[in-house]
Amino acid sequence: MPADPPWWTRAVVYQVYPRSFQDSDGDGIGDLGGILQRADHLADLGVDVVWLSPIYPSPQADNGYDISDYTDVDPLFGSLAQLDELITALHARGLKLVMDLVVNHTSDRHPWFEESRASRASPKRDWYWWRPPREGRAAGQPGAEPTNWHSYFSGPTWELDEARGEYYLHLFAREQPDLNWENPEVRHAVYAMMRGWLDRGVDGFRMDVINMISKDVAPDGSLRDGPPLPGLPYGDGTGSFLCGPRIHEFLQEMHREVFAGHPEQLLLVGEMPGVTVEQARLFTDPARAEVDMVFQFEHVGLDFDESKWRPRPLRMRDLKASFGRWQAGLADVGWNSLYWDNHDQPRAVSRFGDDSPRYRRDSATCLATLLHLHRGTPYVYQGEEIGMANAPFDSIDDFRDVESLNHFAQAVAHGEDPEAVLAALRRMSRDNARTPVQWDGSPSAGFTTGTPWIPVNPDATEWNAAAQRADPASVFAHHKRLITLRHTDPVVALGDFTMLLPEHDELYAFTRRLDGAALLVVCNLGASTHPLGELLPEAVAAELVLGNLTDDGDPAVLRPWEARVLRPVD
Ligand code: GLC
Repeated sequence: MPADPPWWTRAVVYQVYPRSFQDSDGDGIGDLGGILQRADHLADLGVDVVWLSPIYPSPQADNGYDISDYTDVDPLFGSLAQLDELITALHARGLKLVMDLVVNHTSDRHPWFEESRASRASPKRDWYWWRPPREGRAAGQPGAEPTNWHSYFSGPTWELDEARGEYYLHLFAREQPDLNWENPEVRHAVYAMMRGWLDRGVDGFRMDVINMISKDVAPDGSLRDGPPLPGLPYGDGTGSFLCGPRIHEFLQEMHREVFAGHPEQLLLVGEMPGVTVEQARLFTDPARAEVDMVFQFEHVGLDFDESKWRPRPLRMRDLKASFGRWQAGLADVGWNSLYWDNHDQPRAVSRFGDDSPRYRRDSATCLATLLHLHRGTPYVYQGEEIGMANAPFDSIDDFRDVESLNHFAQAVAHGEDPEAVLAALRRMSRDNARTPVQWDGSPSAGFTTGTPWIPVNPDATEWNAAAQRADPASVFAHHKRLITLRHTDPVVALGDFTMLLPEHDELYAFTRRLDGAALLVVCNLGASTHPLGELLPEAVAAELVLGNLTDDGDPAVLRPWEARVLRPVD
């Protein structure tokens, strides 16, 4: 780390998923006007940056991650003028605004794609991945897809365009065709659009699945099949598109073309499924000028088997081994981003904590303490700061997400028991993260005066921001203290990291050290009580800097879901 470390080492980012944050016009869908109304909530919490999930014009096949115009705001969410107002309102409160940028793919309604598909002679024909049917097969026949890849949203990654007689690639939904980054015109159009947003005053980008933009394509234009996936008529194509051969070249080019001249005040974070520590070191090494940090997925992949729809319990030692490796791997070069929750993950308190009435508050604050005391930039996802939990979805009709709905249809068509599929959806569906933010105890939780696009979690009567803002013992108040600690204590921002007790099944403990100062963090991720005298004698005598339980308790005993940040005494 340089002598004057970047501002984002001390920063905390808050993610707003606009659809579910706050509705201001009564249509049941959150919007920019709503975010403006709630700007003080963000300032009170004390976060430094807002990451705004997509608000661009979009047919909303994937809630805005299918963009049909990169340069405007969807009327569903408001207008460019309101976005300007939001930027000003946030800047006035000392907050930055980072835009979500989805450039691995566009919507199939983007004019680029419409032009590309119009004819084989179109000047934009190569802006997307068009391929003929597999040799020896007729277009439309099962198995005629150019490769056997399985889409992230079920089914094949190829869709036939009848008129052209060719297939186009879509790693996600069929409404999300992949852009062809091999074509320099595509790259330069994207860079120009990004410069436009910076000129408008935004402070950086969260780059959606950015490690998928380089595909491993042979000189003759062909793409390879992947290894077969158990139980499915598809293969795993990730070897051909995760961190592909030109990924570093593309990101360095983007950096030169877009960020050169002002990287110091921006934040660039790349979402990178499947990224390894070794690759992340390259992506985040400041000397290489690619991105500031990446979202890695290892720790959110430890509680299921071959797919997220096959959940199994998390083993604590796996979590420690994973986080420990990332902390060590990015210690001397690069930087971590830290998260439990986002709009794609079920709620952490239900998934890694204990959302029963007895332990919901304590486990939510324990998980937050653990995360925020790591080295890296913490991300808080809307509602996480008030301990929002998974939703009690009744039937498939309660789900909205394209990933969940497609999976249900595919799994049931393949003969799986619908009840078992539903059980997995209840645990892992992204819709768990997308129920409206619970602002108060009124019928729609203060989210809307209309009918919410997805039902409000009925626990909003008890779990809401209004109740918590006034309560010094709340999950919200605890988040505020954690954020203040990062702002004020350089050990939290910059100290090195050493994992303790790597084999223990419930205790998660580590030290942070900087220039002779130290913090010891001890978290009990379970409902048993643990005497500390033998395990961590240094914790018993240490001074309490911040704890998550409301009374101090016995320093020699860690209670269920207790977390303590301690300053060791010599
Ligand atoms: C990212 C987004 C997710 C979206 C997908 C396709 O993973 O976070 O919400 O569905 O990319 O854009």
